[in-house]
Amino acid sequence: MSERTLVLVKPDGVRRGLVGDVISRIERKGLKLVALELRTLERDVAETHYEEHREKPFFSSLVEFITGGPLVAMVVEGPRAIEAFRGLAGATDPVAAAPGTIRGDHALEIQENIVHGSDSTYSAEREIKLFFPNLF
Ligand code: PPS
Repeated sequence: MSERTLVLVKPDGVRRGLVGDVISRIERKGLKLVALELRTLERDVAETHYEEHREKPFFSSLVEFITGGPLVAMVVEGPRAIEAFRGLAGATDPVAAAPGTIRGDHALEIQENIVHGSDSTYSAEREIKLFFPNLF
C-alpha cells in the first residue's frame, strides 16, 4: 500500500544548498517524487499550513521564517512514506536528532531544522491539498 506525504525543504535548507542532499536521501531510500515546486510562501498559506500551532508562542516567528525566502515543496510517495520520511528527517530538535538523519547532520536550531514532513495521514492530505491542489 502506497502513501503520500508532503515534504518541505525550508528556506534555511534552500539557502544552504541542501535541496540536492534531501532529494538524494529520499530517492536512495526508494521513495518517489510525485510533485515538486520552488516557491516563496504567501503569509496566508504559511498560516494555514501551521494552523495547529497558531496558539504557540513561536507561531509568528515560524511564519516569518517560512515566508522569508524560497522553499521547495514536494509530494513524496511510497510504502509508509510519512513514517519513512520522518525517519530520514530525524527528531524535530536537531540537537536531539540522530547523526545520519537530515537534521542530525545539518542543523542545530528547532526552527531552522531544514525540512518538514507531514506527521499523519490526516496532515498529509490537508498539506498536499494546500500546496498542490491540482493533484486531486
Ligand atoms: S513535529 O515535528 O511537528 O511533531 O514538531 P512540533 O514540536 O509539533 O513542531 C512543529 C513545528 O514547529 C517548529 N517549532 C518551533 N519553531 C520555533 N521555535 C520553537 N520553540 C519551536 N518548536 C517547534 C518546528 O520546527 C516544527 O516545524 P515543522 O515544519 O512542522 O517541522
